[in-house]
Amino acid sequence: MTENLKPKREAWGTRIGLVLAMAGNATGLGNYLRFPVQAAQNGGGAFMIPYFCALLFLAVPLMWCEWAMGRMGGEKGHGTTPGIFPLLWKHPLAKYIGAIGVLLPVAVGIYYVYVQSWTLAYTFFAVLGKYAGIASKEGMSQFLSNFQGVNSAWGVSETAYVFFLATMAVNTIILMGGIQKGVERVANWGMPVLIFLSIMLVIRILTLGAPDPSQPDNNVWNGMGFIWNPDFSQLTNSKVWLAAAGQIFFTLSVGFGMIQVYASYLRSKDDVVVNGLSTTMVNEWGEVILGGTIAIPIAYAFFGPVGTVEVAQGGAFNLGFATMPLVLDRLPMSLLCGTSWFFLLFIAGTLSQIALVYPGITFLQDELKWSRKKAVAVISALVFIAAHIPILGLRNGALDEIDFWAGTFGVGLFALMEVVIFVWIFKPENAWKEINKGAQVNAPKIFLWILKYVTPVYLAILFAAWAIQQGPAVLSMEGVSGQDAAWRWAARLLLLGIFAVLVFLIRRAWKKQEVLP
Ligand code: PHE
Repeated sequence: MTENLKPKREAWGTRIGLVLAMAGNATGLGNYLRFPVQAAQNGGGAFMIPYFCALLFLAVPLMWCEWAMGRMGGEKGHGTTPGIFPLLWKHPLAKYIGAIGVLLPVAVGIYYVYVQSWTLAYTFFAVLGKYAGIASKEGMSQFLSNFQGVNSAWGVSETAYVFFLATMAVNTIILMGGIQKGVERVANWGMPVLIFLSIMLVIRILTLGAPDPSQPDNNVWNGMGFIWNPDFSQLTNSKVWLAAAGQIFFTLSVGFGMIQVYASYLRSKDDVVVNGLSTTMVNEWGEVILGGTIAIPIAYAFFGPVGTVEVAQGGAFNLGFATMPLVLDRLPMSLLCGTSWFFLLFIAGTLSQIALVYPGITFLQDELKWSRKKAVAVISALVFIAAHIPILGLRNGALDEIDFWAGTFGVGLFALMEVVIFVWIFKPENAWKEINKGAQVNAPKIFLWILKYVTPVYLAILFAAWAIQQGPAVLSMEGVSGQDAAWRWAARLLLLGIFAVLVFLIRRAWKKQEVLP
């Protein structure tokens, strides 16, 4: 009887489809652009120590929690944290704290889509040879800023805007297909293509040797040394530990509330422990092995140690859209190499962007009982309109502002709250049972202890350090000019506005249903 009353939720079609979709969620621009820059800036090989600590003590336990919460919520018709938290904590505040788990991914999606659209544009540029022949780093950076239009009247070029529109259209079409016919279908062909292209590029780069025979030291192997040789003195620097944890959250999409959403489309007998771990491993392999081997070593082979430091300091966008096209253009079969690079970024970016906006869609479907088409249309429209803030305010730091509040501050805070709610308020034994339910192999018992003590304390320290170290400077907008401040305020108000709308919708929905506290 009760079965019939429950709204029928979608489910992943196959196990491999689920793993590929989850891996596609995690594998994004973070793996190929952000990771190499973070590693090169923060002590090279020594970065990997705080990185693996964060993986083991934060990401893996959080991943299991998020998968388990999602599956549990999905069984009861709630795929997002506003609906899931009240199942774990019978308190009226729980649903509003849960709203942060919809706000954060959607906020990131608002600027991520713009970067995703650059990867589409550059795929075309590579095929059409638009940047071919530009021979210097300065020239290529100039090409990037001309394309972005940061010096034009509006701060965006027509070309960049057209590609943004095209990207929005592609995403919306995929989202309209829903879980099986949209996300899973694209992940099923996208992930193999992504992995194939990455491996091809890795092989190409590893067989490159020294491109300039007069400078034999500038070769790929020394480039590998540049990214991997440890600088242990960096380990006493708290910034390195913060950067490592930040990278782990970003790359694994963990701590945002978005893993729960994909996990809510699991069937109740699906395994959380093994599947959660497999997708984590796929992402880590894609990040450390593929992402770590592509960009920095090839930059080193062409520009040597000093040039590579400059490249790493220039940030992730410069690495991806100025340095990489420049060096790939100098290789034999440059057209193929450049196209592969940007197309693989486009696939990675698309699968992640879809996952970033899905919490908004699932929230409207589950809690407001909207149809999928209506939910997709409204969320796409929201992302489209809101994206104008990071787009038009790119040169004024609007994108960075959203990224700080959602991607650094927000994720630290939310991860801490979800662990406390799931492990402590819901009770450790219940959380542990939920994680291991239906598992082919149980999670090692030591992780229960880690979840109870290590993860929350680690998170609390991280969050406090982030808030203290970066908070005041960001809050007071130290050294920010008047016009930039206006854009940064617009970004903040946007985030606050979305949060307020979510709170309002939750209040209304809860008044109607009166089931959850
Ligand atoms: N994990 C994905 C990436 O590495 C997507 C993502 C980005 C998730 C930002 C959360 C925050 O790009």
